[in-house]
Amino acid sequence: MDKIYDLSVILPTYNEVENLPIIIHRIEEMDLNCQIVVVDDNSKDKTADAADRLNEKYGNIVVVRRPGKNGIATAVRDGLLNSQSKYVIVMDSDLQHPPEVIPRILRQLENGKDLVIASRYVRGGSAEFNVLRKTISKMATFLAHMNIQKTDNIKDPMSGFFGFRRDKVLPESIVSNGYKILLELLVATDFRNIGEVPYRFIKRKRGKSKLGMGEFLKYIKLVLRLSDYQMIKFMAVGLTGALLNLLIMNLSFGYFKQPLIFAGLLALEGSIVSNFLLNNYWTYRKRLAKSTVFRRYLKYNFMSSLGLGINISILLLLTHFGMNYMLADFIGIIGSFTTNFGGSQGVVWHL
Ligand code: GDD
Ligand code: MN
Repeated sequence: MDKIYDLSVILPTYNEVENLPIIIHRIEEMDLNCQIVVVDDNSKDKTADAADRLNEKYGNIVVVRRPGKNGIATAVRDGLLNSQSKYVIVMDSDLQHPPEVIPRILRQLENGKDLVIASRYVRGGSAEFNVLRKTISKMATFLAHMNIQKTDNIKDPMSGFFGFRRDKVLPESIVSNGYKILLELLVATDFRNIGEVPYRFIKRKRGKSKLGMGEFLKYIKLVLRLSDYQMIKFMAVGLTGALLNLLIMNLSFGYFKQPLIFAGLLALEGSIVSNFLLNNYWTYRKRLAKSTVFRRYLKYNFMSSLGLGINISILLLLTHFGMNYMLADFIGIIGSFTTNFGGSQGVVWHL
């Protein structure tokens, strides 16, 4: 009969022949009751053959060979489908994720957590990043927090290093071909008890990163899909609001000759009401829980005025320092959009 393991460590590999023996050696040295699942995508450098040889030595390594490069996310899925154990840990095989963090993740899982994330962004964690990578990583994290409510209290939802209880996760819920498998899992799975442990993400010493510009676009698409395209819908609604505003203005000031201030306020509130209804029944139709529609409408009004205030403040401030007024207004619009959208996600329609 097959040996029963407590833990499966899933290692996706693509051209990691130099790193794999080192990471496997370091995992084996810790003497955990674990199996290691290497999921290789037909690496040119014969990583899979190296994994087979390592298994002859250690006996607890499963090697899954896939015909071509198909992304980390599905590699993890196939690793899940080819292993058994109560707990699972997913990590990179290039030594950027130090294997010595594994026992800390495992301990928290054994203490009742459903999901434990090795995190660069909790106290004690860090990343050996250059300024560009750090900025991209922070931007990506911000986008996730902005769009996906389930990342609310998670400092590092981009982490590629985490562990979970197998019975919480359906392998079939992993469908993308990108990098950000943790995000997908967070959305698809009802994790109740999530922990984060700090670690230092270190520089790659051997082999090459497979992350390119294409991954960033893929990432944005993933975030939009996981969030039911709420940001896009919100923008579209905003655009209809602007048009409605102009229309009301034209009717009330141009045609009915109302005072400008009255026409302006009418146009403004008209567009706020219309935006609110469209967002409530379309953009956020999947978030119709809790508070009453009227309360949400009041909150939405507050967020809209805050947005307006921010737009005007940025405009005045930047033109005061000599910036072209159109450019300053454009930046102001970005500021008010962020306020409105952030407030809608995080307050008005927050579940
Ligand atoms: N099987 C398989 N197929 N493995 C792959 C593939 C693939 O298509 N692409 C990459 N890998 C393996 C690599 O061999 C490595 O072990 C691991 O997945 C991570 O790939 P890297 O190319 O080193 O990724 P990274 O360092 O840029 O990004 C990592 O860190 C990010 C945090 O900043 C990943 O863990 C990301 O998920 C993480 O967000
Ligand atoms: Mn890496």
